[in-house]
Amino acid sequence: MNIGLIGSGGREHALCKKLHESRLVDKIFCFPGNAGTSLLATNIDVDILNFEEILRLIKFNKIDLVIVGPEEPLVKGIVDFLKKNKIKVFGPNKYASKLEGSKSFMKMICSQNNIPTAKFKICYKKQQVNDFLDRCKLPIVVKADGLAAGKGVTICKTKKQVIENSSEIFMGKFKSSKKVVLEEFLEGEEVSYFVIVDNSNFKFFGTAQDHKRVYENDKGPNTGGMGAISPAPIVTKSLEKKIKSRIIKPTLNALKKKKNSYNGFLYVGLMIKKNEPYLIEYNIRMGDPECQVILPRLKTDIVKIFKNSIANNLKNLKIEWIKKKSMTIVLCSKGYPGNYKKKLEIDNLDKIKLSNFDHIFHAGTKVIGDKIISIGGRILNFTSLGNNFLKIRKKIIFNIRKLKLKNSFYRKDIGWKVIKNENN
Ligand code: AMP
Ligand code: GLY
Repeated sequence: MNIGLIGSGGREHALCKKLHESRLVDKIFCFPGNAGTSLLATNIDVDILNFEEILRLIKFNKIDLVIVGPEEPLVKGIVDFLKKNKIKVFGPNKYASKLEGSKSFMKMICSQNNIPTAKFKICYKKQQVNDFLDRCKLPIVVKADGLAAGKGVTICKTKKQVIENSSEIFMGKFKSSKKVVLEEFLEGEEVSYFVIVDNSNFKFFGTAQDHKRVYENDKGPNTGGMGAISPAPIVTKSLEKKIKSRIIKPTLNALKKKKNSYNGFLYVGLMIKKNEPYLIEYNIRMGDPECQVILPRLKTDIVKIFKNSIANNLKNLKIEWIKKKSMTIVLCSKGYPGNYKKKLEIDNLDKIKLSNFDHIFHAGTKVIGDKIISIGGRILNFTSLGNNFLKIRKKIIFNIRKLKLKNSFYRKDIGWKVIKNENN
């Protein structure tokens, strides 16, 4: 069968590689893909929000199944649009995508279904912000209601900061919404839990812990993610039971009751406090770089998994995993997540010897002429598998050094928490 894959990041290159390994796949088309996917698929340069044009390309290239990587087309309703046009597509519909597209929607689902999460208030005006300040202690987390490309959340240590950040959102700092969600600050350890969902069932799809801050020792501004490890040892069997019964099941049931069953990947962002899970956020897709750290551990044919999910037959599918540890380190352009250097020339990729347990997933890269050029802040993801996180990290850093990419940087401490406890 022919597959269409929407997106252009490291997540999509990792998905593309898995699709390419599948015996069920003839051709892959990436909309628009990156330099990495161009080696495995046909890249087609198109705006991922131009649904009409994507539909035309799907028909023209006789694509049998579409996989949507990023959140924006999902939140804007690409699944509803393609389904209406009789195209098979994997991902949640517009309504269910509000779990990520609207933080107030997600919080209302939580409060209506007793799902453990931080105390919150949805605010439309300053008076409501003051009310919350009177009854919640600092720090307080200020969130823009809608999609904000990872820039919509600020942890505020003073009342003044809360008021300032809320005002900016009320005044339209983010196009997606002027609503503010204020939250109590939860202390604990963050972890991401993934499932794949059909109309009646869901299956485990891995755990990961990413590193969002740009600098070592988790300092500096937030990024899309500087690296990740999988599996996350904090997710024990007993914790997993709680995550499923208190958070995932009630959420999926709530959507079902609203006649909008969830279908697709669901990324459950959690804070773990004294072995109790609290929901921080839902994402309606795989994470990036979480996808790059999880997928290399997947044994089962990914197309078989997608087909079973679409046919509501996940229940009868066994999803198998390689019993190894995995780590991803992201190589970024100097200046990221602020103003970063563009058009870095990447020319030593062939100097890096990769085994079956090592991968380089491209993110912001493009083939221009006979060169691979960086076009994004996050450039390449180095993933390796092994039995010990410290050894995996050493191997990845050895590989990154071979690249000798000027004006790039990466964190050398990815996985520090698990490594600290690894040999105890
Ligand atoms: P979100 O987009 O909601 O996931 O928020 C981005 C990041 O902000 C999360 O990954 C957490 O690190 C942090 N965060 C969000 N909400 C809270 C909260 N209530 N308490 C503590 N940290 C939070
Ligand atoms: N790495 C965080 C995300 O994909 O949202």
